[in-house]
Amino acid sequence: MIIAGSDNHFPVHIGIIMDGNGRWAKKRMLPRSAGHRAGAEAMRRTCDACRKLGVKYVTFYTFSTENWKRPKDEIDTLMSLFEEYLDKAESFTGKKARILFLGDKSPFPVTLRDRMEELEKNSAAYDSMTIMFAMNYGGRDDIVHAARQIAEYSVKGDISPADVDENLLQGLLYTKGAPDADLIIRTSGEQRLSNFLLWQSAYAELYFTDVLWPDFGEKELKAAIDSFMQRQRRFGGV
Ligand code: FPP
Repeated sequence: MIIAGSDNHFPVHIGIIMDGNGRWAKKRMLPRSAGHRAGAEAMRRTCDACRKLGVKYVTFYTFSTENWKRPKDEIDTLMSLFEEYLDKAESFTGKKARILFLGDKSPFPVTLRDRMEELEKNSAAYDSMTIMFAMNYGGRDDIVHAARQIAEYSVKGDISPADVDENLLQGLLYTKGAPDADLIIRTSGEQRLSNFLLWQSAYAELYFTDVLWPDFGEKELKAAIDSFMQRQRRFGGV
């Protein structure tokens, strides 16, 4: 049985690439929107499972900087789904979870943006668990955004080149104080990171499963954590 804190090797931060909504729908001859809706339910279930198992940090790759290339009707469907689920977010994130959105919020519809800001503000003091939604997120954009802040400090004369180190840059990423990802899960059989948490996954263990995201839940999460707990992590040592 896996219980957080009972073993040094329990993952503190899990990142999840939720892939396969479209294929799940296609297999059932349903529109892609039905796959995304089932995917949102899987995200809700997985939040519950993370809370139950004691996962301290979980990051969901919800919408990438590249997803804007999708057809307009699919983007509109996703935006409505985000609004619907973020409206009831406290019911599945738990009343004491901190919620953060990783990425530039400015391209989102104003009602969605306001809701994202409200959730972040209302949950800022909670520390039992942190749930992060990577929305309009890209790992490269995350690093560029941090580098731009460093350039601004430098222009103002607040820092010199010698002050620029990993700690400084890490603290300026969208994930702010969150620890690096220990485990990255990707569903639907694809085996790549697709610009997710590039800096934060430098030493992450990767877990790929053929399960399509809408079919993911507590059982699959436990299987991923079990696999993680059997691995030897050396962080470049011997
Ligand atoms: C990838 O599947 C999935 C997405 C791009 C969207 C993920 C969003 C959700 C699961 C909804 C979550 C909701 C909230 C509120 C956080 P795909 O469409 O690329 O699947 P395919 O590769 O099979 O076509």
